[in-house]
Amino acid sequence: MKKIKNKIVAFVKGDESNGRIKWSLYGRVWREIGQPYWKWLAAGIIFTILAAGAEAYTITIVQQVVDKAFIEKSLTAIYWLGVQVIVAFGAKGAFTYAKALIMSKGGLLASANLQKKIYKHMTHMNLARFYSDGIGKNLNYFGVQAGAVLNLVTGTVIKVVQNVATLIMTLALMFYYAPQMCAVLMFLAPAIMIPMVVIMRKRRKLSRQSFGIANNVSQQLNQTLHGIKTIQAFAAEEREEKKFAHVLNSSMNNAYKSTQANALRSPLMEFMISIGLCIAMIMGGHFIASGTISTGDFTAFLLALTAAYKPAKSITSTGDTLQHGLLAAEILFNFLDSEPDIVDAPDARELTAKNLSVGFHNVSFAYNPTEPVLTDINLQVPAGKVCALVGPSGGGKTTMFNLLERFYEPQTGKITINRTDIRKYTLKSLRENIADVSQSVFLFNGSIEDNIKYGRPDATHDEVVAAAIAANADGFINEFPDGYKTSVGEGGGLLSGGQKQRIAIARAILKDAPILLLDEATSALDTQSEKLIQAALNDLMRGRTTFVIAHRLSTILDADIICVIKGGQIVEMGTDAELCAQNGEYKKLRDIQFKTESKKTKNKALLPRVE
Ligand SMILES: Nc1ncnc2c1ncn2[C@@H]1O[C@H](COP(=O)(O)OP(=O)(O)OP(=O)(O)O)[C@@H](O)[C@H]1O
Ligand SMILES: [Mg+2]
Repeated sequence: MKKIKNKIVAFVKGDESNGRIKWSLYGRVWREIGQPYWKWLAAGIIFTILAAGAEAYTITIVQQVVDKAFIEKSLTAIYWLGVQVIVAFGAKGAFTYAKALIMSKGGLLASANLQKKIYKHMTHMNLARFYSDGIGKNLNYFGVQAGAVLNLVTGTVIKVVQNVATLIMTLALMFYYAPQMCAVLMFLAPAIMIPMVVIMRKRRKLSRQSFGIANNVSQQLNQTLHGIKTIQAFAAEEREEKKFAHVLNSSMNNAYKSTQANALRSPLMEFMISIGLCIAMIMGGHFIASGTISTGDFTAFLLALTAAYKPAKSITSTGDTLQHGLLAAEILFNFLDSEPDIVDAPDARELTAKNLSVGFHNVSFAYNPTEPVLTDINLQVPAGKVCALVGPSGGGKTTMFNLLERFYEPQTGKITINRTDIRKYTLKSLRENIADVSQSVFLFNGSIEDNIKYGRPDATHDEVVAAAIAANADGFINEFPDGYKTSVGEGGGLLSGGQKQRIAIARAILKDAPILLLDEATSALDTQSEKLIQAALNDLMRGRTTFVIAHRLSTILDADIICVIKGGQIVEMGTDAELCAQNGEYKKLRDIQFKTESKKTKNKALLPRVE
C-alpha cells in the first residue's frame, strides 16, 4: 500500500533520481508558453487533423478500387475514384502546407517571447548568482533549454496530435473493415508497449544528464573564447584541447547511450508488427476463403494496419522529445523562478536630490559567509566632498563601491545617501545618480560614440565630443579613420588599456551624476595623460560627492578625506596632512611611493627614451 502511495507521490511531484517529471509542469508549460499562442496552435491542430483525415480517406479509396474496379470490374467507378485520389492528395498537401506555415509563425512568436523573458530575467539577475552560474550555463538557457521547450510546444504537441489522429483513424478503419481480426491483434499491444516504456525511462535519465553536460561544453567554449590570449600566451592550447575533448567525450557518450536505447525501438516494433501481420495474413486467408470478409475489406485492413505502424512508432519517439522538452522546461522555470534578492523595496522612492552625502554605518560584508571582506566600516562623506580609499590590494576598496551601487547587500549595517538607507531608493534612480569608472573597463562592441553615450543615450554629438575632450580622448579618437564611429571590438579589445580608460572617463563625464566613483580610473595612463585627465577629473569632481580609489597617492593628496583600508577595515582616516602627522600606515605608503617615484624620475633622465 505504502509502495503504491510512494509511486503516486513520485508521479505527481516528480523524482529527480530516476528523471521523473513533475506532473504540474505540463500545466505550467501550457500556461506560460502554449496558451498565449493557443489560436496558432488550434489552427495548426485543425489543419493537422484535416491532413490526417485526407490521408485516411485515401485508404478508403483503395478499398473501393479493389472491390469495385478489380472485383466488380466497373470502369466508371475507377474514373471517379481516380478523381478522388487527386482531390484527397491535393487536400492533404494544402492542409500540410497551411499547418507548416501556421506552426512556424506561432513557434517563432512563442520563441521570441520566451527568449525576451529569459533575457529580461537575466539582466536583472543578482551578480552573485550570475557569476556563480557562469556564462555557459546562462547562454544555454537561450539555446539548449529554450529550444527544447519550444520544440515541445510547437513541434511535439502537433506531432502527438497528428499521430494520435492518424492512429485513431487507421484503427477505426481497421475495426470497420475487420473487427474480428482487431480483437485478436489487440493482445499484441502490451507486448509492444512494455519494451517502449523501458526504453523511454532510460532515455529520460540520459536526457536529464545531457543538460548538465551541455553546460560544461559551453562553459569550456566560453572560457576558451574569452581567454584565448592567455591560453596562447601560456602555450596551453594542448591542455585546453584535452579538457575540451574530455567534456565532448562525455557529451558523446551520453548521446551514444541514448541512441543505443533508441536504436532498439524500431527493430523491436517492426518485429512485433511482423508478428501482427503474419497473424493477420493467416486469419485473413481463412476469413476470405470462408467468405466472412471481402478481398477489398481485407486489403484496406492490411493497408490501415501498415499505416497505423508509422504513427504508433512516431508516438513512442515523440514521447522522448516530450520528456526532453519537459526536463528543459523544469530547468528553465527554476531559473525564471529565482527571484533576484536585490530589488526595490515596496515603499522605495526616487532619488531626486542633487547634493548627495554618503554614509557607511557599521557595514560588514562577505561574498562567502566564511570569509569576511569588510568589517564594521563607518564613514561619512558630506555632499560635494572627495573621499579617497587607499590601501593594499584585496583590502576591500572595490567591494565598498559594489555595496554603494547595490550590486551586493551588506550583511549588517547600512549605507545611506542623504541620511536615508539606499535600500529605500529605487535601484534605477540610485544607479542613475552614480557614475563609475571601474577598475576593469568594459566597452560594448559598437562605436566609440555609442560607448560614450551609454549612460545618456539622448546626448548630442557635440556633448559626446565635449566629454571626450575633457577625458583627453578626443585626440586619439580623431586619429582613427572613422573617428567617433570607430568600432571598439569585443569588450573594447581593439583599443589600448589607456584608450579604454579614457572612453570610460568620457562616459562618466557625460553621465553627469552627483556621485562619482573612480576605481583606479587613470591607472593605465602615462604620467602625461594622467596629469591632463586629472585636471579634467578635478573639474568634474567639483560639486560632486566623489570616491576615488588610487594606488598612486599623488592623485589623491588633495582629497577631503583619505581612508586607509586594510584587511576589510578602515585603519586610518583624515586629510593628507593629518595622516602624515599620525605617522602610521598612510605615511609608510606615501614615503615608499614618493621615494620610488623620485628615484624613477632621476633614473629616467639617464635612460634612453623607449616608448
Ligand atoms: N565577486 C567576488 N566574489 C567573491 N569574492 C570576491 C569578489 N570580489 C572580490 N572578492 C574578494 O574580496 C576581497 C576584497 O576585494 P576587493 O576587490 O574589494 O579588493 P580591492 O581593495 O579593490 O583590491 P585591489 O586594490 O586589488 O583592487 C578580496 O579578497 C577578493 O578576493
Ligand atoms: Mg579593487
